[in-house]
Amino acid sequence: MKVLVIGSGAREHALCWKLRQSKHVTELFAAPGSDGISRFAKAVPIAVNEIEKLVTFARENKIDLTVVGPEDPLVAGIVDRFRKKGLRIYGPSESASRLEGSKAFAKDVMRRHAIPTGGFKLYEKAQPALEYLKNCDYPVVIKADGLAAGKGVAICEDYEQAEVAINEAMTKKRFGDAGKRVLIEDFLQGEEISVHAITDGRTILPLCIAQDHKRVGDADTGENTGGMGTYSPLPQVDDALMDQIQDEIIVRSVHAMNRDEVPFKGTMFIGVMLTKQGPRVLEYNVRFGDPEMQTILARLRGDLYEILSATVDGKLDEVEVDWDPHTAVTVVVASGGYPRDYAKGYKIEGLDQDFGRDVMVFHAGTKKDKGEWFTNGGRVLSVTALGTDIADARAKAYAAIEKIKFDKMIYRKDIGWRGMK
Ligand code: GLY
Repeated sequence: MKVLVIGSGAREHALCWKLRQSKHVTELFAAPGSDGISRFAKAVPIAVNEIEKLVTFARENKIDLTVVGPEDPLVAGIVDRFRKKGLRIYGPSESASRLEGSKAFAKDVMRRHAIPTGGFKLYEKAQPALEYLKNCDYPVVIKADGLAAGKGVAICEDYEQAEVAINEAMTKKRFGDAGKRVLIEDFLQGEEISVHAITDGRTILPLCIAQDHKRVGDADTGENTGGMGTYSPLPQVDDALMDQIQDEIIVRSVHAMNRDEVPFKGTMFIGVMLTKQGPRVLEYNVRFGDPEMQTILARLRGDLYEILSATVDGKLDEVEVDWDPHTAVTVVVASGGYPRDYAKGYKIEGLDQDFGRDVMVFHAGTKKDKGEWFTNGGRVLSVTALGTDIADARAKAYAAIEKIKFDKMIYRKDIGWRGMK
């Protein structure tokens, strides 16, 4: 089978690494891919948002299955475009992708189908939002309704901060159309976990739970990022809590979309806050998490092609998967200044070596020039290791990272700390 993966980050590198192990996959392409990914998949120079060019490539090259990494093409309707041309593609339709593409849509689904989440208000104009903010309880979370590349969320401790957030989104239009509507949400206190489920709309396959580390600094300090590291399993999530999350959140969410006649096929990645009152949905994503998927794939025992292909065909009930009982830890190695301003082009030493059987180094933002590696992004690498427990897995990941060097290299030293308390 010929498979095309859309994307270029460490998540897509991990997807290609796993798909390469499938007995069904004979040829693998990645658009646009990267120098790192090209070890497993031939790079196709088409950007993720060039949907018509991707359709043409898939038709001309008789691609059997396309797998979409990032959210933008999903929200823009890539799945509908591919299906219209009779092409098999893994992911939700444009309508179903509104779960991630519009936070107001997601909250409305949750409200109508009794899916546990925090309270919220939706505003289309700045003035009434500011009026509400004068008398509400703090902290509050202010979110742009649409996709804002992970930047549209502000946690505000008081009115002054909230006023800045509303003005940025609605007056200065920092997030463009994504900030035309704004949600003001209750701040949920607790520990956040990443819940992934694959579904064909009938059968639900929950993936192993992971936890991300959103802040750039150790002990969850500093700015929010796309994620600085993940681990799985989580000792703090027992079977009873997992059952509750499955019943009240995962199953209800899939059924809600069916009942609303917007069936969801693909990956539901749900950010869940473990509050004192029980698990609450923070947000939906309609794709695999990054760096969650690097950790999840390290533990997946099974053929990823079979899982994704069965989902597309509505035959997920025929697939069996198993999880490696070992712990997987992924540490993101970034360039100093990330998530704000960072330079590119630092020479990376030590990348081309054997890190051992239990370590995978996935490339997020690298470039090869005349046989040498250079940084090419804020998040540069994802180093994933398997071990007997969190301490063992992260010791292996950190040992590998110590063999890699580039100027201004940063990474968190405490990945998995909540699971080790
Ligand atoms: N790691 C968070 C995300 O992929 O959205």
